Amino acid sequence: MLIKTKQGGSDLILPSDITPRAVFETRREFIQKLAVGSIASASLLEMVQREAFAQTNSANKLAATSNPAYQALDKKTAYKDATTYNNFYEFGTDKADPAQTAASLKTRPWTLSIEGEVKKPLVLDLDALLKLAPIEERVYRLRCVEGWSMVIPWMGYSLSQLLKKVELTSNAKYVEFISLNDARQMPGLGSRVLQWPYTEGLRLDEAMHPLCLLTLGMYGEVLPNQNGAPVRITVPWKYGFKSAKSIVKIRLTKDQPRTSWNVANPSEYGFYSNVNPDVDHPRWSQGSERRIGEDGFFTRKRKTLMFNGYSEVASLYAGMDLKRYF
Ligand code: MTE
Repeated sequence: MLIKTKQGGSDLILPSDITPRAVFETRREFIQKLAVGSIASASLLEMVQREAFAQTNSANKLAATSNPAYQALDKKTAYKDATTYNNFYEFGTDKADPAQTAASLKTRPWTLSIEGEVKKPLVLDLDALLKLAPIEERVYRLRCVEGWSMVIPWMGYSLSQLLKKVELTSNAKYVEFISLNDARQMPGLGSRVLQWPYTEGLRLDEAMHPLCLLTLGMYGEVLPNQNGAPVRITVPWKYGFKSAKSIVKIRLTKDQPRTSWNVANPSEYGFYSNVNPDVDHPRWSQGSERRIGEDGFFTRKRKTLMFNGYSEVASLYAGMDLKRYF
């Protein structure tokens, strides 16, 4: 892991200089409970233990420079929600499963290979990936096809920076992402809910768009296992399932790749899957969404925005019928 120290003389505040989110959220919760007198000595002990655990986890810190061009202004989702409400079917289909079972994922050693229609195929280990380009912090909204969304400070760099290194052939038209497929580490692989390995894909121009993030961390730390450690893709203008987790292979292809969700149910999960409030899922509306953490009984849902609000990608789809190519 690359841990950058603060540069001499610079007053730049790195995310890693700040108290880890888990720690200050625990503290805030503790102080609130203390104030209302609802804290019993047993739970006091549990909270002290949790804080100690979060502090010893400081080895997971990852330094990054905040990129001002990519800062969603929405309130960030609490770290606790982002790490306990997950879709990662290799670890179970319940939202709470990955946080409970993903400890079995071994994230080192890890290699990511980039192959297919490239002149210089590459196999990179995690340290090489962490050093390939400066790590940026970008706050992105991520909208799940199921109708909920989160706002997460991701860390990584544009996927295009990596793709530039392998020299694409003129046949490269699509990019396929392949997740780890190891039943010894991933208990959910026994289920037939999807075709494994989890596979996703993008058109080359989508993958080269600067918004498309090769993601190595979040909230100032390396990725937690349940969020797709040690390396995933984040494509914020598309439904969340396009953002493949724990990837081991990126393959450049001539033809549009088959993708796990599209194979499972082609009429419900299109290859493009751009966030689009005007194209409903066959079983539910996509016009609004529930922001995780805003779940009060009287809280109104938010309106879903075209391309999840990332209108800068619209030109990628000029002239395309987005109802047909959903
Ligand atoms: N990647 C893999 N390998 N397996 C999965 O089940 N689920 C997808 C996506 N990437 C998934 C995956 C779905 S449906 C969503 S909404 C996002 O991951 C959720 O990412 P998060 O848990 O970090 O919020």
